[in-house]
Amino acid sequence: MKFYIDTAVLAEIKEAHDMGILDGVTTNPSLMAKLGIQGKDAIHAHYKAICDITSGEVSAEVLSMDFPGMVAEGEELAKIAKNIVVKIPMTADGLKAIKHFKSKGIKTNCTLVFSAGQALLAAKAGATMISPFIGRIDDSNWDGVQLIYQIVDVFKNYDFETEVLAASIRNPLHIVKCAEAGADIATCPLGAIKGLLNHPLTNIGLAQFIEDSKKFA
Ligand code: E4P
Repeated sequence: MKFYIDTAVLAEIKEAHDMGILDGVTTNPSLMAKLGIQGKDAIHAHYKAICDITSGEVSAEVLSMDFPGMVAEGEELAKIAKNIVVKIPMTADGLKAIKHFKSKGIKTNCTLVFSAGQALLAAKAGATMISPFIGRIDDSNWDGVQLIYQIVDVFKNYDFETEVLAASIRNPLHIVKCAEAGADIATCPLGAIKGLLNHPLTNIGLAQFIEDSKKFA
């Protein structure tokens, strides 16, 4: 499974990159706005800064809601760096834009996917990856990981090339469960990735090894 980090914070992206496990980055307009990054020039400069840290795929989201706007915006985003993936919302115009970008060889990430039917449409339109938001599904009292199983099964039936990118991950267990379900990618906050490092028996075993090494020295 590929690991993406879900943040716009450059220090966090650098930290995950330096851990040696980073395959890409996802951002969204809320994450950018939280850092006070607003306006086209500032947003594009920030994407460039992210692409300078990692050569992995970096999802950059369009803000337009209509097909011509998505195409114009996505084409500009794709020019920022060769690892930019244009992130497009799951709407009828979004599907048209995904098909357009596929014909131009530009990678897309279809975002805000909450059902297998939506995933199927995005795959048929030619999305490079689709983002089911599992944490938000859990928040609404449904089982987000179950949706990953369902989409992975559906895609296998038809040999779609579209990758399943589990998004809206909230904790380390979500990551492991998505790996069990066969997600191709998980995009995670840094805290959830670092949470995978922890096991009390590792800490106890390490302390014991250090202690023993002093006894017999
Ligand atoms: C994915 O691309 C989204 O940015 C993200 O995973 C949404 O997560 P949230 O539900 O925690 O906002």
